[in-house]
Amino acid sequence: METLKLPTIQDLDLQGKTVLLRTDYNVPLDQASHIQSDFRIRTSLPTLEFLLTRGASKIVILSHLGRPEGKHVPELSLRPVAHRLQELLHQPVQFVSELAALSEISTSNRQIFMLENLRFYPGEEADSPEFAKQIVDATKADYFVQEGFAVLHRAHASTSTLPKLLPSAAGLLVAKEVAILTKLLQKPAVPLTVIIGGAKIADKQPLVDRFLPIADHIIIGGKIAASGAKFDNPKIYVAEDFHDQFDLGPRSIQKIIEIIQNSRTIVWNGLLGQAEQLQYATASLEIAQAISDNKQATSIICGGDTVGFIENLPNQLDFSLLSTGGGASLEFLSGVELPGLSTLDM
Ligand code: 3PG
Repeated sequence: METLKLPTIQDLDLQGKTVLLRTDYNVPLDQASHIQSDFRIRTSLPTLEFLLTRGASKIVILSHLGRPEGKHVPELSLRPVAHRLQELLHQPVQFVSELAALSEISTSNRQIFMLENLRFYPGEEADSPEFAKQIVDATKADYFVQEGFAVLHRAHASTSTLPKLLPSAAGLLVAKEVAILTKLLQKPAVPLTVIIGGAKIADKQPLVDRFLPIADHIIIGGKIAASGAKFDNPKIYVAEDFHDQFDLGPRSIQKIIEIIQNSRTIVWNGLLGQAEQLQYATASLEIAQAISDNKQATSIICGGDTVGFIENLPNQLDFSLLSTGGGASLEFLSGVELPGLSTLDM
């Protein structure tokens, strides 16, 4: 794997410029469309603050939310996300409900704008060059900044074509995630331990295959282990005892904690038990705590369920990277080229 030399926002002359900022604000919503976790909004704040401090005159935020399939679905509007961002930034965020209204930003005295859900437009997922050009023409943007790490594995207009139309660079979050994950694949501190949970081995097999040559330990938990998966490799430890088949038992938890304590790099993807029910969250809780307690190790947590679980814990734990990417992190770690990265270029 080659080292990716990503242009970043630190390389841009931002003074007085208009920036298109692609974020991934695909946040979990409850039945009433209330935001359940603002993690993905908060992780974009350093880039927004950097752009503002460096004098960008207008920032136009682009994101998707859910899968409305090219139609206007009011429950998937980004308006509540714009409100939440405004609260977090302590600065007005002007919501732009239609593409046509984007041309009005040049005469507005506002600095930050957020366009309605990109996936309300069929051109987004179809990776339509016309759709991408419409956004550039309406905003008269000078730069494109990619900050949506979690959507880099999709070849859509805002990830694949927009960066080809403007000088483009990675935001701070994309740069950080790519740097940590690249180091993990190329030069991990050893011993390297990869902990894999979740339900389906087919989803996780690429991860096992990718890490088997470089990892010292691969640990398999979750439903994959409880349903009796077998691996014929001394590096792979499959959990050996279970609590009602829905969580790991004490012998497995103890063994995994010992491995974690002796590791210098730890990657964790996938919950170890049915952790949404508190009585089956013990293994995930204890493993999270053990990883956080190992201050010598680089620790990387990825996967939407796993990161969501950590985010909802009452006590503050400490990791090197809580990846915002679900599918994107898995594809990156499995060695797949991400369309949203390969197109970033100045
Ligand atoms: C994610 O949440 O993983 C990304 O936003 C991508 O969403 P998608 O799977 O609907 O393309």
